[in-house]
Amino acid sequence: MKNYSSKRIMVTGGAGFLGSHLCEKLLNERHEVICVDNFYTGRRANIAHLASNPYFEVIRHDITFPLYAEVDEIYNLACPASPIHYQFDPVQTTKTSVHGAINMLGLAKRIKAKILQASTSEVYGDPTVHPQQESYWGNVNPIGIRSCYDEGKRCAETLFFDYHRQHQLRIKVARIFNTYGPRMHPNDGRVVSNFVMQSLRDEEITVYGEGSQTRSFCYVEDLVDGLVRLMNSPDDFTGPVNLGNPVEFTILELAEKVVAMTGSKSKISFKPLPSDDPRQRQPDINLAKEKLGWSPDIKLEEGLVKTIEYFQGFIA
Ligand SMILES: NC(=O)c1ccc[n+]([C@@H]2O[C@H](COP(=O)([O-])OP(=O)(O)OC[C@H]3O[C@@H](n4cnc5c(N)ncnc54)[C@H](O)[C@@H]3O)[C@@H](O)[C@H]2O)c1
Repeated sequence: MKNYSSKRIMVTGGAGFLGSHLCEKLLNERHEVICVDNFYTGRRANIAHLASNPYFEVIRHDITFPLYAEVDEIYNLACPASPIHYQFDPVQTTKTSVHGAINMLGLAKRIKAKILQASTSEVYGDPTVHPQQESYWGNVNPIGIRSCYDEGKRCAETLFFDYHRQHQLRIKVARIFNTYGPRMHPNDGRVVSNFVMQSLRDEEITVYGEGSQTRSFCYVEDLVDGLVRLMNSPDDFTGPVNLGNPVEFTILELAEKVVAMTGSKSKISFKPLPSDDPRQRQPDINLAKEKLGWSPDIKLEEGLVKTIEYFQGFIA
């Protein structure tokens, strides 16, 4: 049964890793959900369990082209998120971030919807301050192999704030840090999926550099809760706001943890660092705590158990 406070909500990138969890949460909260996806990196399997819900719709659409639908809120998540995927067709990546943002902002303006942008910690580039606060402007290479993603997302943030200033659009910008969990793509080259898949197959675990670079890992359920809190926050709070887990681990610690938890026979090997790979990344989440009452609850071990369980389904 729908309730009186239910809204019609569009989630672009709704068939992806984060998007599918977000669609599920919004449906559980009894909203109508329209998932918009071109299935570039998203998969039908991620949303198959939602298909029978009468309040769930899927539109196959590339957001670099305009779209019209009557909705109350838009979560703009469409964009390949892993380096392997976003570097495969870098021009399309920038188009998705920039043209996609223009199209979704144009739609939000026309139908007076509230709109949230899934931005990224990559807007900080290879940070020179640590941990990163929202006031930090970043250290980004504009012409490197990661730039299609980093600069695309930065430009999208610019567009969000200009639509807000120029057209009084209700906007929300979340800067998402490394998130992991079930429905991540098993071959997307991201560190958690890589390590888990390599461990489950007893393959060599590749650590780049000496493994001393640090990352913080947020479990998907915590992250999606943060996105919904942000969307529901008062209109005068636009962000940008960091959403991520501030507990830091070195890449080597993560590798060792995964090997231990999977009972794997894998050995750890070291390879040279790829270009522009940030050495350190950790969110300062004080703003999210203060404005959204949000901080992540799920510990790395707990999240890894569910993630490992999910990836076991891919092992023949
Ligand atoms: N997962 C993370 O750790 C993380 C971190 C920072 C930011 N983000 C951001 O969150 C969002 C979701 O990331 P994810 O991890 O779920 O990635 P994902 O690749 O699993 O999901 C992205 C989805 O967008 C869809 N998509 C891509 N281009 C599109 C286009 N032009 N039109 C319509 N759909 C398109 C894909 O098919 C996919 O379903 C992205 O915007 C990403 O930049 C994610």
